[in-house]
Amino acid sequence: MTDLLSRRERALGPRMTTFYREPVEIVRGAGVRLWDAEGREYLDAYNNVPHVGHGHPLVVAAIANQLATLNTHTRYLHEGIVAYAERLTATLGAGLDVLTMVCTGSEANDMALRMGWAMTGKTGLIGTDATYHGNTHLVSQFSAGRTPIGGRVDWVRRVPAPDSLRPLGGSADGQAEAFAAEVARAIEALEAAGHGFAALILDPFFANEGFPDLPPGFLAPTQAVVRAAGGLIIADEVQPGFGRTGGHFWGHQRIGLTPDIVTMGKPMGNGYPVAGVVTRPEIVETFRRDFGYFNTFAGTPVAAAAASAVLDVIEAEGLQTNAAQVGAHLLAGLRALDHPRIADVRGAGLFVGVEFTEPGGLEPAPDFTAEAVERMRERGVLMGRIGRGGNILKIRPPMVFARENADHLVTSLAAVLEEIG
Ligand SMILES: Cc1ncc(COP(=O)(O)O)c(C=O)c1O
Repeated sequence: MTDLLSRRERALGPRMTTFYREPVEIVRGAGVRLWDAEGREYLDAYNNVPHVGHGHPLVVAAIANQLATLNTHTRYLHEGIVAYAERLTATLGAGLDVLTMVCTGSEANDMALRMGWAMTGKTGLIGTDATYHGNTHLVSQFSAGRTPIGGRVDWVRRVPAPDSLRPLGGSADGQAEAFAAEVARAIEALEAAGHGFAALILDPFFANEGFPDLPPGFLAPTQAVVRAAGGLIIADEVQPGFGRTGGHFWGHQRIGLTPDIVTMGKPMGNGYPVAGVVTRPEIVETFRRDFGYFNTFAGTPVAAAAASAVLDVIEAEGLQTNAAQVGAHLLAGLRALDHPRIADVRGAGLFVGVEFTEPGGLEPAPDFTAEAVERMRERGVLMGRIGRGGNILKIRPPMVFARENADHLVTSLAAVLEEIG
């Protein structure tokens, strides 16, 4: 392990992040289980890319068979990608009828933002101040983690993200209007600076922001503000998409938002790098007129086969329903835990979390949260942490997570909380 770590640093260079004080070398996965090089088994409560389970045989076979048959690019006709686009867009409403396949969520958001530019002829963009939408030059302007070299560009404005425990405007009831007012102010500032307003990008589940508990309709006032200003709404579904939140297939459907553009990635190909942008035909038309677009590895027959197999498995195994049922069971189990640092337990479907604060207050407890994540790993359960304060447990397992997995997680967490004290 130490040897692999030092060889990794020599071969891949410094500052490659790893999870955990003692990094884990995973060598195999199946369903919700992972095994390390010493044969130790872990329950995976973290990874959302293997959406239908690690190494799902149907997805593996679909990829292998298509790769053995043909893999070219989008400049040839191929039934697979067209059939997939028809099937995927049928899950979306409101004229969201055309799919452009890309390879990563970053590429998808980069394209979506440029679609905003093409449609409006303006450059002003808005996102939240506690988000991550990817790593391209354009998209990384929104990253909360690091200020870009040269500072943030003037035509990107960040608005405060909604929060469950510390609502904008001071009350949960007023938070929707307060968020819309922040967006309105950002639009005014972009207009005043001469950039104009092109698009608002947000994850309708606000996953990276810490998935605050927000009621359906929360984004209605914001949507009205954006529409009145002539901008586009981009829903980044990289995290909540494909049924993860249980009750709805897409996060924007759950919160009642009508986006102009939907971007997706991570779970789409169960680990095969597939991502996508779905929008209206006139938006794609304008984007292709202004930018053109070709992506060597995107929208290949293999990408379509992988993505199509993922939809097959979600349907055949009832995974959206599983997310709703097991997620509710998991939430109930977590809510029954008693500890002075638990400030909130929330989430939807198989995307849930526990927010830890200093006892009796709202001060985030990131060290405590990090310690809990470490000790859960020691007990063989993998999870992460998220949120502006790094104080929210991120529990977001493959969608085949079962009730007994949820019970095992809750029992382990109860023991860890007691241990840390
Ligand atoms: C909400 C969101 N959008 C986009 C991305 C970027 O996706 P990718 O890593 O595939 O480029 C991420 C990655 O974590 C994400 O969380």
